[in-house]
Amino acid sequence: MKIFITGGAGYIGSAVADELLAQHHDVVIYDSLVTGHKAAVPKGAEFIEGDLADDETLKKSLTREKLDAVVHLAALIEAGESMRDPGKYFRANLATSMQLIELAHAAGIGKFVFSSTAALYQSNDEPLTEESPLGPVNVYGQTKLMVEQTLDWYRQIHGLRYAALRYFNAAGAQPGRGEAHQPESHLIPLTLQVALGKLESVAVFGSDYPTPDGTCIRDYIHIADLVSAHLLVLNGLDEHEKLVYNLGSGHGYSVLEVIEMARKMSGHAIPAMDTPRRPGDAPRLVASPARIQRELGWQAKHSGLEEIISSAWEWHKSHPNGYAKK
Ligand SMILES: NC(=O)c1ccc[n+]([C@@H]2O[C@H](COP(=O)([O-])OP(=O)(O)OC[C@H]3O[C@@H](n4cnc5c(N)ncnc54)[C@H](O)[C@@H]3O)[C@@H](O)[C@H]2O)c1
Repeated sequence: MKIFITGGAGYIGSAVADELLAQHHDVVIYDSLVTGHKAAVPKGAEFIEGDLADDETLKKSLTREKLDAVVHLAALIEAGESMRDPGKYFRANLATSMQLIELAHAAGIGKFVFSSTAALYQSNDEPLTEESPLGPVNVYGQTKLMVEQTLDWYRQIHGLRYAALRYFNAAGAQPGRGEAHQPESHLIPLTLQVALGKLESVAVFGSDYPTPDGTCIRDYIHIADLVSAHLLVLNGLDEHEKLVYNLGSGHGYSVLEVIEMARKMSGHAIPAMDTPRRPGDAPRLVASPARIQRELGWQAKHSGLEEIISSAWEWHKSHPNGYAKK
């Protein structure tokens, strides 16, 4: 297949691109580098530096050759920021995605895989299935839900085949490839930056949630496991016109458990600082990945928190400035 990957210079997109190239697919990456890194673009991928908001460049890129599928990962990803500046997220994540879907349809591309999120579910004490009640508590999650709904209208009206992959928290690293968001807002890299001496402490946003230790609980999925689902799903779209899957490990860890594991892995005391709750955080989001396991045979192979954090620690130690040379 010839696959157009938006956001392929980012943490997850570059790893997805790498895997698709390894499976002998052709890959075109479209990324503005707003938060991504040119150095993360895998060898063998064609790279177009462009913004999804740039209609002309996007249209040209989608029509100059026959493409089989779009894998759409480009987005702004900070839930907290989306609660301070909702317009930025509606523009960057919703408006551009709607345009991408329309232009991809006009270009005759029949398959579309979308990076959705756990943030479109309501908090739940039970593992979340795809039927669990939706109800984003932040604008970021709302934009993802609206893109899923848009895709479904294109399926109904134009026969677009699509998959929505609801990622839980992607984490961990693979050789030469790790998490380097700018600015960083994710717990594991922030915690490890303290261990590296780059930050003095890690903030714990809220310790009065209705969870056993009072901090939020999340499901962490190793980047390698997340990536392995994409090809299964792209192939699955040959048979199914619509696939919606949770992608998580099925295990939940509190903020304090993550920090404790990072202390163990790094041997650093990692001071934690109690801070008020952050608007837009749900108390508990843990996946049931049963449906993708049952239907596509997908399995998480690296899901333990210890393996996730130790791989992340190796990456942060060897890449203290992420993909930057210095
Ligand atoms: N990281 C997670 O835990 C997680 C969880 C759930 C969903 N997701 C989704 O997965 C996707 C990738 O996340 P990530 O962690 O790799 O983030 P990232 O910031 O590392 O990657 C996003 C990439 O998209 C590019 N981009 C952003 N806006 C763009 C635009 N308008 N035009 C062109 N390129 C643009 C950035 O430059 C960057 O390379 C996002 O859609 C995110 O919402 C991530």
